[in-house]
Amino acid sequence: MKLLFAASEMFPLIKTGGLADVAHSLPNALAELGVDVRVVIPAYRTVLDRLTQMRVLGWLKLSAGTEVRILEAMHPEMKMPLWLVDAPTAFDRVGDPYTGANQQDWPDNPTRFALLSEAAASLAMDGLSLGWQADAVHANDWQTGLLPAYLSVETQPPRTVFTVHNIAYDCQFDFGTFQSLHLPAHWWSMELGEFYGRFSMLKAGLMFSDVLTTVSPRYADEIRTPEYGYGYAPILSAVSDKLVGILNGIDDITWNPRTDKHLVAHYQAGGKVRAGKRANRQALLTAMGASEEVIQQPVPLIGSVGRLVYQKGIDLLLDAIPPLLERTNAKFVLIGTGEAKLMHQLEALSKTHPDRVFSHLGYSETLAHQLEAGCDIFAMPSRYEPCGLNQMYSLCYGTPPVVRETGGLADTVVDATPRSIARGEANGFVFTEPTTHALQAAIERALELFEQPKQWMKLIKTGMRAEYGWKQSAQAYLDVYGAD
Ligand code: ADP
Ligand code: GLC
Repeated sequence: MKLLFAASEMFPLIKTGGLADVAHSLPNALAELGVDVRVVIPAYRTVLDRLTQMRVLGWLKLSAGTEVRILEAMHPEMKMPLWLVDAPTAFDRVGDPYTGANQQDWPDNPTRFALLSEAAASLAMDGLSLGWQADAVHANDWQTGLLPAYLSVETQPPRTVFTVHNIAYDCQFDFGTFQSLHLPAHWWSMELGEFYGRFSMLKAGLMFSDVLTTVSPRYADEIRTPEYGYGYAPILSAVSDKLVGILNGIDDITWNPRTDKHLVAHYQAGGKVRAGKRANRQALLTAMGASEEVIQQPVPLIGSVGRLVYQKGIDLLLDAIPPLLERTNAKFVLIGTGEAKLMHQLEALSKTHPDRVFSHLGYSETLAHQLEAGCDIFAMPSRYEPCGLNQMYSLCYGTPPVVRETGGLADTVVDATPRSIARGEANGFVFTEPTTHALQAAIERALELFEQPKQWMKLIKTGMRAEYGWKQSAQAYLDVYGAD
């Protein structure tokens, strides 16, 4: 089967969040299952800078007379050729893929990602006459929402699968922009892409695709409720017969404490867990600027990595830290970037408690890995979490997560109770209410169990021994692609 996988980011070339990890690890897992995959992403400047071997595949003519160049590249960590949509006016700019220096969305995002989607649709239909036509196309999030739409006008389109990684981001635009994109007039309708008087790129993906997936079964249920649906609940309920939740897997080469290239010591469930974690804790705290005396203190270390935004409930954690500092001996390490207010609050906390709260207000792949290995407990109090990868990384690294009961967190973390521990099922701590108080109580429960080394090791090993790779989920995707 030939599959075109389209995304707006892909680790390790360009990453703002978990979508990049999935766009790396899922195509690799599918290639291992024998699928003939191509991954198509924009040729952002960073991407071009990071690739050495590229060749020009050809030029595609798009609507409105635009012409884009398509490059093909190989990357040592990817098992298939990458196709890059090289449109300098859209993608060759300084800044992140979606926002400029002022943290605001690029105003021409609709044009930029319509272009990506149209180019991907043409590639799927062998627009370059390479003798490669897709049997299935997998589009991801609003950036490729128009891809199933562009394919819908073909007489024999490939099967289209659209995955919602986060329903809260949809990219809406007005009628003037719609006209400037030269989209068929009837797409501006309630049954297709129109959404409360605007056009939604996400809705186009929801309506035009043959199959709709989300990244965990729980989130597939949640987005059909007003609380989690961000206005799309009624639409999703209407199309629920084509909606399935497939849990993300993780890349178990990049995220594996036995082989992780960012760690100073390796370990696995069968051995050296304590020693391995101790060495990595030392490396982490040293990198965070802690003194030797602080590093040697035998106290629990609680960590968190993530985008500092409302979704992640990071405000709940920042508010829970001061009482936890008073009531317990724990120390904290937080890594993230995002909203200015949250960054200031975190910075202020680490300035006030220089020996107990450590922060890195930036993006660091190495620190993220060291934190997973070096901490004792991982905090992920998300208000909503379509899947979440960090709780799975934490489970693999022997760092029990404290999570809120939502989305993929609810699907992967089993709360520690005397019964679930005895049965060898518990792997972390789960709380329900999105409040500082509930989070604080869950962290205190975790700290209590941490004081019981035997029970704690049992919890750690349950997490470390489980399977989080793509085996099952890649098979589930094959089914929705319609593979024989
Ligand atoms: P989301 O996609 O909503 O941000 P996920 O848990 O699915 O959440 O994935 C987030 C990914 O981004 C993880 O691989 C995480 O380690 C990484 N990440 C987020 N913020 C940072 C950061 N500041 N430094 C390094 N890695 C980060
Ligand atoms: C989104 C979600 C996150 C998910 C990731 C990959 O960014 O917020 O929960 O893990 O996509 O699917």
